[in-house]
Amino acid sequence: MNTRTGQRPRTGATAADIQAHYDIGKDFYALWLDPGLTYSCALWDGITGAPGNTDLLAQAQHAKLRYHLDQAGVTAGGRLLDIGCGWGSLLRTAVEEAGVRQAVGLTLSADQDAHVRSLGLAGVDVELQDWRDHETAERYDGIVSIGAFEHFAHQDMSRDERIGAYRAFFARCAGWLPPLGRLSLQTIALTDHAEHDESVPDFFAGEVFPGSALPRLSEIATACEPYFAITRLREDGADYARTLRGWSSRLFQAREEAQLLVGPDAYLRYRTYLRASEIVFMRQASTLYRITLRRWPERRTLAGASGGQSFSQ
Ligand SMILES: C[S@@+](CC[C@H](N)C(=O)[O-])C[C@H]1O[C@@H](n2cnc3c(N)ncnc32)[C@H](O)[C@@H]1O
Repeated sequence: MNTRTGQRPRTGATAADIQAHYDIGKDFYALWLDPGLTYSCALWDGITGAPGNTDLLAQAQHAKLRYHLDQAGVTAGGRLLDIGCGWGSLLRTAVEEAGVRQAVGLTLSADQDAHVRSLGLAGVDVELQDWRDHETAERYDGIVSIGAFEHFAHQDMSRDERIGAYRAFFARCAGWLPPLGRLSLQTIALTDHAEHDESVPDFFAGEVFPGSALPRLSEIATACEPYFAITRLREDGADYARTLRGWSSRLFQAREEAQLLVGPDAYLRYRTYLRASEIVFMRQASTLYRITLRRWPERRTLAGASGGQSFSQ
């Protein structure tokens, strides 16, 4: 934060960038997301059938939420942080199904913040806050972040600058966890598999997700290394293609209502973005990673010839 101007140097999407996308309104998203309003790639293991079917989409989203709660290692009575909590589906699942005592969600979207508050869920606290400003007196037992990492750097940053921005994120997460505490992270990433057509990132950064940029796996690995071991990695790009197909077929089915709510231009922009994204995942020009990270234990140093041990962070 610049103490003179009150503004932080820009390292990713700002609240205004986030609100430009997410605050088009929950009623619009409710037309094509699942009933829990989860806005990220679902987990389709063992689920077959049309992805636009409401029950199947809800089932696959629920499987994804349970997967991340499990990977974050938060058990009944524990405290959970959800960085980029959307409309609160993980927070709800954490308190209602996993017995989490306190689930804290962070979002930069005023619409999402208001929605989660309106749910009145016991044990859920939501903050309209950037993770960079988050403070907690008590450590969390586990952290989940799904579909937010894509907003933590912007397109004009160099690789080193992006790594620096991601490293700042991992440093904060490590500070909020006990040694060996876990962070379950889900993010889209760019691959080197297909030729990149620069119009694709330009379209997304310009028209859909202003102020955002996709990471590469090597950047994530380099950035997290001082703080976390990667203990599990799933590559699930096919799951994202399927989720996007479900969303876009649902949006198409609801096209009349959608156009009344947001107008024909915004409807067309979203349809284009959902179809274009599906193609990008099918070509494997980008993919989806679910990454489990475990905070390193306290560093052990041999203290002198007496054989005594001291522990430091
Ligand atoms: C694609 S949505 C995913 C929401 C939710 N995790 C889900 O799966 O439905 C991205 C979320 O990240 C949040 N976000 C982006 N940048 C953030 C930041 N710097 N601090 C806190 N939240 C952020 C947005 O406000 C939004 O809630």
